[in-house]
Amino acid sequence: MISRAHIFFTSVALVSVGAALWLAPCAAAQNSSFRNAPASAAEMKNPYKSASSAAAGKKLYALNCAQCHGSNLQGIGPAPALDRAPVQHAKPGELFWFITKGKLESGMPSWANLPQQERWQIVTFLESQDNAKAAAK
Ligand code: HEC
Repeated sequence: MISRAHIFFTSVALVSVGAALWLAPCAAAQNSSFRNAPASAAEMKNPYKSASSAAAGKKLYALNCAQCHGSNLQGIGPAPALDRAPVQHAKPGELFWFITKGKLESGMPSWANLPQQERWQIVTFLESQDNAKAAAK
């Protein structure tokens, strides 16, 4: 005999399968690259990862980025915070790539004119500023 409970649980199961199928593409999108960075960007290795690079990056950040993203990376207006996801989950090469090209139409300048070394040092600094990680310590 098919009980009411059986019908109920079968429908719940069907709805869950439906939701899973529907949500799967969203999960896939979340796993995709930071700001659609190409795989070649993700593979780039940061040659400037030392503590002194992070210190240099901090100064460069204050000089070039803080006026929009905030002196504590907290974000100001349209310029997002940089001390949390998605930036902190991005690969170093993806950040380097995005900083290099910018997003002119939404107000993020291109930093292609900064020497490569300085762009990597900024990436190193940004990655040292994960507030969630710092709080967990
Ligand atoms: C003139 C203001 C301005 C300056 C200066 C600036 N940015 Fe931005 N930045 C923005 C805006 C606005 C966005 C959002 C663009 C978007 O989402 O399309 C952004 C986005 C970003 C993002 C992507 C964040 C995310 O969550 O997707 C990163 C990383 C970033 N900026 C890093 C930097 C760095 C590093 C510097 C300094 C070298 C810098 N920015 C300087 C305005 C600025």
